[in-house]
Amino acid sequence: MINLMNFYALVFLVFLLFVAFLGYCLYIKHIHMKYDHIPGPPRDRYVKRLVVLAADANVKLVVVSSLTVIYRAKIYGPVYKIYILHYVILGVNCPEATKEILMSSKYPKDSFYKRLSNLFGQRFLGNGLVTARDHKQWYKQRRIMDPAFSSLYLRGLMGAFNDRAEKLMSKLTDIADSKAETHMLNLMNCVTLDVIAKVAFGVDLDLLNNSSPFPKAIETCLKGMTYYARDFFFELKPTNWSFINEVREACRLLRKTGAKWIHERKTAMGNGEDVPKDILSQIIKSAGQGYLSLKDEEFMLDNFVTFFIAGQETTANQLAFCTMELARHPHVVRQEVDDVIGMKQDISYDDLGRLIYLSQVLKETLRIYPTAPGTSRELPEDMVIAGIHIPGGCSCFFSPYVTGRLEKFFKDPLTFDPDRFHPDAPKPYYCYYPFALGPRSCLGQNFAQMEAKVVMAKLLQRFDFTLVPGQSFDILDTGTLRPKSGVLCSVRHRNH
Ligand code: HEM
Repeated sequence: MINLMNFYALVFLVFLLFVAFLGYCLYIKHIHMKYDHIPGPPRDRYVKRLVVLAADANVKLVVVSSLTVIYRAKIYGPVYKIYILHYVILGVNCPEATKEILMSSKYPKDSFYKRLSNLFGQRFLGNGLVTARDHKQWYKQRRIMDPAFSSLYLRGLMGAFNDRAEKLMSKLTDIADSKAETHMLNLMNCVTLDVIAKVAFGVDLDLLNNSSPFPKAIETCLKGMTYYARDFFFELKPTNWSFINEVREACRLLRKTGAKWIHERKTAMGNGEDVPKDILSQIIKSAGQGYLSLKDEEFMLDNFVTFFIAGQETTANQLAFCTMELARHPHVVRQEVDDVIGMKQDISYDDLGRLIYLSQVLKETLRIYPTAPGTSRELPEDMVIAGIHIPGGCSCFFSPYVTGRLEKFFKDPLTFDPDRFHPDAPKPYYCYYPFALGPRSCLGQNFAQMEAKVVMAKLLQRFDFTLVPGQSFDILDTGTLRPKSGVLCSVRHRNH
């Protein structure tokens, strides 16, 4: 009797599963019918692609994806759709729509950001500034953080920028003396991590002379983030489990470090010590005063990790790409550096304003290599993009990587030409946005470009660098874009 009941229960369960599966298939069909009029690659390619992704975990971290997005933009035009089961993502490279959507707070960040709040079950960016999707919650944090990025406050950071860049110059002096070759990306990672640790959190790491687990932890988190966000089947493969544990461990290390540094800062505040009004102080402020719940503590750590990661990797990659381009085409920028800073050791805030051509070089670097290659938004309501009716309820992806490499926006797009950003040249119209645009644009843009200018100006002032032959110029897409070769250079002292 019991066996018979079990049997009926099992049949009923299978029936329910079948009905649920059928319902889901019908739902997917309904969604596809809604969006099928939008141009885009045929659907069967996704099935094949999902199978390939599931079969080979390595395919995702290569250049292929970057080439695919450009190809699609060329073939399908200003807006095209991609289906991932019932999700619909639109690739948008229409300047008018980019302006309308990114410049408004009506369009929240999409569910991709929700996925970044945890990596494989371990809290990562949580509800910090980059990942917060609720406007009110984001706005409150952004207002509190703003003072740490005011131009007055940033001026005061010139000492720290100079100081950390000087450590890099000492390292490069040793390298030039020993005639060794060096990976510029590694060195740039050390400097930008030194800068963010000192300026944002008041901690001296001196990574060019000390070893530290942080660079590896950041790299592991970013790699994990790419797999986790792009491959829904990644966790199912036992061969990935040890890597997944490494990612969880790396997230925990960053958060534990945050907890320790926040605790030390709070103790200093409690003892009435004079503490800087830096990012760490603002993070502590954003969690509120008095008793803090576990939720408040977690929230502080979300922003700690956000700044630790957002404030370092993208700038290091920009500096490495810039070095790579300047080494490929020895450049007139050196003359400007000599004219503005000569043999001076300390670069002032006013000098930065006079390094106009260097600004153009840095902008052009981010046109071809936007190190944070995109942002995405949810479309809650119907709208029209490039004359095509778009039903609400989908996500839009905006990529400065794509628009920066399209001939229709930039003539001869693969040529590195800083004159595109000459002060008298027409400004690109919503097709150049390496720091995103509008309310959710990068808070650290000025910080990053001041830091990058100080490092590049000192490098150009003192050294000649050439690329070691035979390396690739490929781009590695690990969530952020970085030079695959690591930019292997030989460095010599300049003959002034
Ligand atoms: C070359 C260097 C940098 C580039 C290319 C860059 C690019 C970007 C981009 C594209 C976004 C939007 C992300 C999205 O929508 O998903 C962003 C956001 C952000 N970035 Fe940067 N970033 C750089 C450096 C920095 C630095 C140095 C800091 C901090 C010191 C920083 C802090 C932030 C923060 C806090 C946000 C979130 C802003 C918000 O939503 O309110 N970034 N960045």
